[in-house]
Amino acid sequence: MLASVEDILKLATVILAAGQGTRMKSDLPKVLHPIAGRPMVAYVIDTALALGDDRPTLVVGYQADHVRTAIGDRARYVDQPEQRGTGHAVMQTRAALEGHTELVLVLYGDTPFVSVETLRAMLDTHAQADATITLLTFRPPDPLRYGRIIRGGSGHVINIVEYKEATPEQLAIREVNSGILCFKAHWLWSHLTQLEPQHGHSEYYLTDLVALAAAERKTIATREATTEEVTGIDDRIRLAWAERHMRDRINERLMLSGVTLIDPATTSISAEAEIGPDTTIHPGTHILGRTRIGRGGFIGPNSILRDSLVGDGCTVEASVVEEATIEDNVRVGPFAHLRKGAYLERDVECGNFAEVKNSRLGAGTKQHHFSYLGDATLGQKVNIGAGTVTVNYDGVKKHRTEIGDGAFIGSDTMLRAPIRVGARAVTGTGSVVTHDVPDGAVVYGVPARLRPDKPQTPSS
Ligand code: UD1
Repeated sequence: MLASVEDILKLATVILAAGQGTRMKSDLPKVLHPIAGRPMVAYVIDTALALGDDRPTLVVGYQADHVRTAIGDRARYVDQPEQRGTGHAVMQTRAALEGHTELVLVLYGDTPFVSVETLRAMLDTHAQADATITLLTFRPPDPLRYGRIIRGGSGHVINIVEYKEATPEQLAIREVNSGILCFKAHWLWSHLTQLEPQHGHSEYYLTDLVALAAAERKTIATREATTEEVTGIDDRIRLAWAERHMRDRINERLMLSGVTLIDPATTSISAEAEIGPDTTIHPGTHILGRTRIGRGGFIGPNSILRDSLVGDGCTVEASVVEEATIEDNVRVGPFAHLRKGAYLERDVECGNFAEVKNSRLGAGTKQHHFSYLGDATLGQKVNIGAGTVTVNYDGVKKHRTEIGDGAFIGSDTMLRAPIRVGARAVTGTGSVVTHDVPDGAVVYGVPARLRPDKPQTPSS
């Protein structure tokens, strides 16, 4: 029976990510440039994990600490302080990997679209051919800067020639190296030291191992991928293409799972977002970070939701929601801004030009027009009148406001924190409330005072 990838017990993935990516013209390392909200190398790490390597090895160099911090413990890191070529990069991993693996698969941190299926097929080819090296090749419309695959008379691969060293005949070859290749581990480690520096004696080409293997009559297998899958993202034009391509993939996945996107072309949804079925996303909406939205909602048009939780049956219309939590059947907008720490319990209505920061609004509370709630805790079924402001900042410190269940805050009330307004209490229009208001009391004026004719009702 032929061997298959399942028979290969130990696979090590090596992800090359040490380069600066000069064509990006950026201070940020190329592999950290985000695509659909995630660093591009994160997708490659996902792929390596899906292939069964529980600790992919990431070769880092340019701004290595920055890459480590951004990616965290999903990878093992190997340093390549000086970038002296792809062969040199793989050499750095030897101490960590030699003796622990049977197969080494080299991936690039800037090639995020290569699929698990394609790589599995490549590893299967490798196993079935009992190959020493297997190359993932492709045929781009313009082979430009890629290494050309050189085949001998019998059709077997005998070399890879980099475009810088290629003859005009070799440059005419359309089959090129994607850079993704796998090796029998013991052969790799014993031959890496035989690489000679190239390109003005400074770079070690990993691809030179192909000619060494051919000279030893080892089997060199190939598998062809589509250009789309293996195109590296190395300038801002490719980055914009990658964003569109990744966004299309995410949108298609969501639509197939039951989410309606009215206009996918103007909708951007992060790779980490989750949206329940029968939710409709209207045009011009950006769902960013780890936002989770429940079922049957209406989001947009023109809304931005970042790292927020939204329950079932919610409407968020032309609003910005950041690091906020919204329970079921809540209505937000139009033109509301929920900021960090906003927590809206079920059936809340938070409407036109309302802003909420670091505050909890109890179930059924209504905040409809031109108002600001900051550092406040509101009970259930509170009514916030137009123009209400929690005056939470004294210029030095922030202070909290508490409002009890069923309180009615009249239009244009200023609540000077720290302050507590009792349950079912009422504030008159234009009140400036500077002292706590007992349960059931009515206050009015500037500064607000009790209306003696309205008896207070003790809390039950
Ligand atoms: C390499 C291949 C070429 C192939 C092309 C596909 C070699 C010699 N050439 O080209 O055949 O067609 O990829 O894109 O292998 N890197 C490091 N350390 C280094 C150098 C590079 O980690 O010292 C990383 C880069 O960050 C990048 C990847 O390796 O992720 C490829 O480097 P790049 O310079 O883009 O590839 P080339 O050498 O031009």
